[in-house]
Amino acid sequence: MSLSSKEYRSSVILGVGSYVPDKILGNKELSLKVDTSDKWIQTRTGITERRIASIDRPTSDLAYEAARNAIADAKIEIDQIDLVIVATITPDMAFPSTACILQHRLGLGKVACFDLEAACSGFLYSLDVADGMLSSGRYKCALVIGAEKMSSIMDWQDRTTCVLFGDGAGAVILSAEGKGPELLGFRSGADGSNPTLLHQPAGGSSKPASKNTLANREHFLKMNGKEIFKSAVRVMEKATRELIAAHGLELSDVNHIIPHQANVRIVESMAHRLEIPLEKFFCNLDRHGNTSAASIPLALDEAVRNDLFVHGELVVMVAFGAGLTWSATLVRF
Ligand code: UT7
Repeated sequence: MSLSSKEYRSSVILGVGSYVPDKILGNKELSLKVDTSDKWIQTRTGITERRIASIDRPTSDLAYEAARNAIADAKIEIDQIDLVIVATITPDMAFPSTACILQHRLGLGKVACFDLEAACSGFLYSLDVADGMLSSGRYKCALVIGAEKMSSIMDWQDRTTCVLFGDGAGAVILSAEGKGPELLGFRSGADGSNPTLLHQPAGGSSKPASKNTLANREHFLKMNGKEIFKSAVRVMEKATRELIAAHGLELSDVNHIIPHQANVRIVESMAHRLEIPLEKFFCNLDRHGNTSAASIPLALDEAVRNDLFVHGELVVMVAFGAGLTWSATLVRF
């Protein structure tokens, strides 16, 4: 089996960390706010509870805690970090970036900082970008974070969306040098032909905030769940197949898959289509719901803490999100 698809040295993961707020919102409590039931949510999505950040805690606050945990896990000095990327669709504000806010809070040097918006695929897109920047030789050590306060853009009157999402953050320290799990390759893509399948209609330049947009509840996330479901299965299957083929591997060579944590039925369909046993898919969506860009790093951190991966094993992380965007990453542990 061949693994080489990159001409340059792979970056390595020196440390992983995550953070979720303390407040647990269970399905039963949610069914008191909106017309739903524990049974419907569990059978249609696999979710039992999600974490919700308090009103005074913005996304940068969750990102800060996850970043601190990743830095401690990597056992690096903070001044080694020379690049910060935050993947999020719920930034503290439109600008400046959440990454800049975080830089100051963490006491980092005046290093490059920016946010990356690729919705639920944002963390894997950020790894792809950070890996490229590290491989150029111009950067040495990147803090890459997926952080979301999805509760801040939920319409708590819309049962078709508010039961699905949660808040949280996950982070990794990526380095051009050192020992750790290696990022072997990526497959990222997008199809912008149908942006309204999953979007936040107002608040941007096409529909600035107004009395009407507020009255029409257009600052909240809107989704065509059925269409997104079908696309999700299709694009994650395709990205995984292409990534594996590009490395001269077979699907059976993959030891574990960390899929975007949106709906257990999406994961089951994907496993079925790829003919990969469901046991190889790591899921924690039952306890967190869909945390968008935080979903993959949150699951990665939990898998690492549980010693799920053995040295040398191959792990695929694969996500899809609004855009539509998708991204798959191959890691050798
Ligand atoms: O990161 C990407 C983000 N998005 C996703 O991954 C979402 C992908 N889509 C999905 O996960 C699923 O499509 C949903 C979970 C959103 C919906 O599941 P579904 O099996 O596609 O349900 P549905 O939309 O076909 O709705 C079935 C019924 C409808 O009632 P009627 O018309 O059959 O009477 C809905 O009104 O279920 C109803 N329904 C609910 N009932 C109780 C929808 N949401 C709820 C709810 N509680 N929360």
